[in-house]
Order: sequence, then structure tokens, then C-alpha cells
Amino acid sequence: MPGAGKPLCCILAFCLLWPLCFSSPAWGEDCRSKTYPPAGPTFKGTVPTYIINLDLPPSRRWDKLMSEKKTELKTVIHSIKDLANAFIPSGKVIEIVDTKLVWLISTLPYPFNEELKGIANASGIPPGEILLFNIFYEIFTVCTSIVAEDKTGKLYHARNLDFGLFLGWNVKNSSWIITQELKPLVVTLDFQRNNKTVFKSTNFAGYVGIVSGIKPGIFTLTMNERFSLDGGYIGIFEWILGRRDGMWMGFLTRTALENSTSYQEAKDQLVKTRLLAPAYFILGGNKTGEGCVITRSRLATLDIWDLDANGGTWYVVETNYDRWQAPLVLDDRRTPAMKCMNQTKQENISLSTIYDVLSTKPILNKLTVCTTLMEVSEGRSESYLRECIGSCSPW
Ligand SMILES: *[C@@H]1O[C@H](CO)[C@@H](O)[C@H](O)[C@H]1NC(C)=O
Ligand SMILES: *[C@@H]1O[C@H](CO)[C@@H](O)[C@H](O)[C@H]1NC(C)=O
Ligand SMILES: *[C@@H]1O[C@H](CO)[C@@H](O)[C@H](O)[C@H]1NC(C)=O
Ligand SMILES: *[C@@H]1O[C@H](CO)[C@@H](O)[C@H](O)[C@H]1NC(C)=O
Ligand SMILES: *[C@@H]1O[C@H](CO)[C@@H](O)[C@H](O)[C@H]1NC(C)=O
Ligand SMILES: *[C@@H]1O[C@H](CO)[C@@H](O)[C@H](O)[C@H]1NC(C)=O
Ligand SMILES: *[C@@H]1O[C@H](CO)[C@@H](O)[C@H](O)[C@H]1NC(C)=O
Repeated sequence: MPGAGKPLCCILAFCLLWPLCFSSPAWGEDCRSKTYPPAGPTFKGTVPTYIINLDLPPSRRWDKLMSEKKTELKTVIHSIKDLANAFIPSGKVIEIVDTKLVWLISTLPYPFNEELKGIANASGIPPGEILLFNIFYEIFTVCTSIVAEDKTGKLYHARNLDFGLFLGWNVKNSSWIITQELKPLVVTLDFQRNNKTVFKSTNFAGYVGIVSGIKPGIFTLTMNERFSLDGGYIGIFEWILGRRDGMWMGFLTRTALENSTSYQEAKDQLVKTRLLAPAYFILGGNKTGEGCVITRSRLATLDIWDLDANGGTWYVVETNYDRWQAPLVLDDRRTPAMKCMNQTKQENISLSTIYDVLSTKPILNKLTVCTTLMEVSEGRSESYLRECIGSCSPW
């Protein structure tokens, strides 16, 4: 396996120099059209739905999902362990995870602590490794999210979930190992109370936070990683050392979806809560003008970019860069996404034309695991597994 068994510097050098191996640095293409309903080589399948019953005790909520997905989850965790051993080859990392990380679960807020223990019990995977897997999502998610409003005031929210950056490149068939292995773990979760949907999410089985979710009729929410010097590592170290007043980002999004009853309440919560790591929250409501990108540092909200269709801002796009800064030249998914949104025009925006935008390279790239489309007023939510074939940007 490439990546595995090689020292850190080789992996990093390989990743950083990788684009230079191509004669043409351009992985872009013209904006796609008529790609919806999903079909063809970039569409790899639909995503199964599971009910998570919030009326059950937290430790039992994930039993059914885990009984069906534990093998796939073990495969991914095995790869993560291989990688950890490649970075620090003594085998010590996993020993620490298995023996020393376990107590950290008890420091997490309810119900997440209980849920993680339940997942470990139901899957037979050591609790420390389940925790590691949950921390991984908080750190390695790069994405493109869009909220758009059509001429009638209807709101659409969609995203590509790109995951697995730097986590081992498979030279044989040019793909990221973890990105591939994650696809069978993608599920739609229907969180219910009293047998009624409270919210839905697109998740990786085994992760208890939320990166994409919809509260039908009320709001939609996605979260993107924000890289910053004041990064997640500091917050996680502080947590380990005992300073625990910051909230894990995926727990905050889950709390908002589970317990906020309006767009405004969710927005306030996302703006004001102290976090463990910087993040972008992309929130859409059910009324005209209700849509925003919230740029967060750990302690503060740096910017709120609101929809304003009358003022010409009929959509907002967030990748993994602050909107007032240029994206990295090698990783500009924002300009192509805006170009395609501009070409589509507000007159013709819909879930199917947004799917076209998200199917255009390099917005679709080698890290893309799935595309999620949400329409809040009808409570519609659809997820599709994706594959970028041929000459694609590696991220
Ligand atoms: C709107 O989008 C559809 C689907 O991509 C396309 O077939 C149609 O020509 C577009 N209409 C206009 C007015 O641009
Ligand atoms: C662990 O799982 C078993 C079944 O696999 C179940 O009987 C037991 O109650 C579970 N324990 C806890 C603490 O959830
Ligand atoms: C690449 O190979 C891996 C393992 O052999 C497989 O799981 C994956 O689906 C392949 N990816 C592509 C894009 O063919
Ligand atoms: C939910 O539905 C199941 C069967 O459909 C029923 O047994 C159960 O009592 C219901 N639970 C609640 C809280 O209404
Ligand atoms: C969401 O918006 C639709 C369309 O405007 C409206 O019919 C519906 O009542 C709204 N839902 C809620 C819960 O406000
Ligand atoms: C939502 O609120 C209920 C009732 O207060 C609480 O039991 C539950 O843990 C909360 N959910 C989250 C994710 O915090
Ligand atoms: C898209 O349109 C907006 C508003 O007219 C403009 O500010 C932006 O520069 C355009 N972006 C691209 C990439 O075409």
C-alpha cells in the first residue's frame, strides 16, 4: 500500500509535488449540464437510509447501523492505523489510542459520550479507535457548499463532501485509499422522536457529529473545515489537558439540528458558541434571505455572509477559504463554482442545475465521496456517491 510504511516526509513531499507530475495543471472543464438525474461514470450509487431513534438510550441508538456496517468501519479504521504507524512506526500510536484515549470519551458531553461507547460495544471496535475515527472527521474534511435562492424565494442547499486528503494515495489506480474505503460507509440518517423525523443527515457510519443535515421546513446546515494557524490541534490538546469549554464542531451542528427550532436560533448558536477548532458553517433557512456562511475562529465569529437576493447576492459558496482571501492557486474550487453558478443564473437554479455545478471538475475531484442536495420547504434530501474518473484534480 502506498503511504503505509513510508516516513512522513516522503508522504508529504509526494503529496505536495504530485501536481507537478502533470504536464497540464488544468483540471477544470466547462460547466456541466444535464447531469441530473445522476447517471454515468461519475455516479457510483445511491445512499441507504437508516433510522436513528432518539427515544432509545444513547448507547443503543446505533446498534442496528453498526451491526450492518461494522466490517466496512473496521476496514477504514485499519487503514487509519496503517497510516498512523507509517507516521510513527513503533506501533506506539495505536497502543496509546487503545489504552490512553479511552478515558477521553467520558469527558465528552452527553449524549455523545454514551453514543460512542454504544458504537464501540455494537461494532466490537475498541472505544479509543472509535474516538480517533470521530476526531478524524473534524480535521480532514474539505468540501464545497452552496446555498441558493430561486426567483420565488425557494432555498436550495447542496454540497460535495471531499474527504481523505493526505491519507494515502493508491498509485495503482490513482485514488485516495480512505476516500474509496469511506464510500460504503456513507448513509442517510433519519433521526426520529416519537417515530417522526426531527432531522436528517448524510453521515459516515460510526461518526456521531453532523457535517450535512436538514431540519425539514426549518433549516439546512453544512460544515466545512477551515484551515488556520489557530487550528484544531490546539483545541484538541487543550481538551486532553483538561480545558473543556470549547465545543466539538460536529457536536455543535448536531445539537443545532436536534434542538434548535428556527433558522435564527440555529444561527445564534453557531455564531456564539466557543469552538474547539475554526470552521465554516453554511446555514440555509426556509424564507427569502435566510442563508449565510459563518466564518468562525475558535473564539469568535469573523464574518457572516448573508444572502440578499434583492441586492444581487442570490447564492453563497464556501469551499475551505475565507471569502476575503484568494484560495490557494492549486486548490481553487471557488472560482469555477461561482462561474458555473453565474452561468446558470437565478432564473434557472434548481437542485438539478446545482448538481451540474457540483459535477464540474475540479469541484468534483479525487477526494469527492458524495454529493448531497437539500430543499428545505419540501424536506427533500438526496445523496449520491461520486467518482471522478480520468484526469481529475487530486483535491
Ligand atoms: C435551464 O437548465 C436546464 C438543465 O440544465 C437546461 O436544459 C435549460 O436549457 C436551462 N434553461 C435556461 C433558460 O437556461
Ligand atoms: C453491548 O452489546 C450487547 C449485544 O451486542 C448488549 O447485550 C449489551 O447490553 C451492550 N452493552 C451496553 C453497555 O450497551
Ligand atoms: C482502486 O483500488 C482499490 C483497492 O484495490 C479499490 O477499492 C478502489 O475502488 C479502486 N478505485 C478506483 C477508482 O477504481
Ligand atoms: C413507533 O412505532 C412502533 C412500530 O411502528 C411502535 O411499536 C412504537 O410504539 C412507536 N413509538 C412511539 C414512541 O410512538
Ligand atoms: C417553509 O416554506 C414553505 C414555502 O414557503 C411553507 O409552505 C412552509 O409552511 C414553511 N415551513 C415552515 C415550517 O415554516
Ligand atoms: C437535545 O435536547 C434534549 C432535551 O433537552 C437532550 O436530552 C438532548 O441531549 C439534546 N441533544 C443534543 C445533541 O445535545
Ligand atoms: C459571479 O457573479 C458575481 C456577481 O455578479 C461577481 O461578483 C463574480 O465576480 C462572478 N464570479 C465569477 C467567477 O464569474
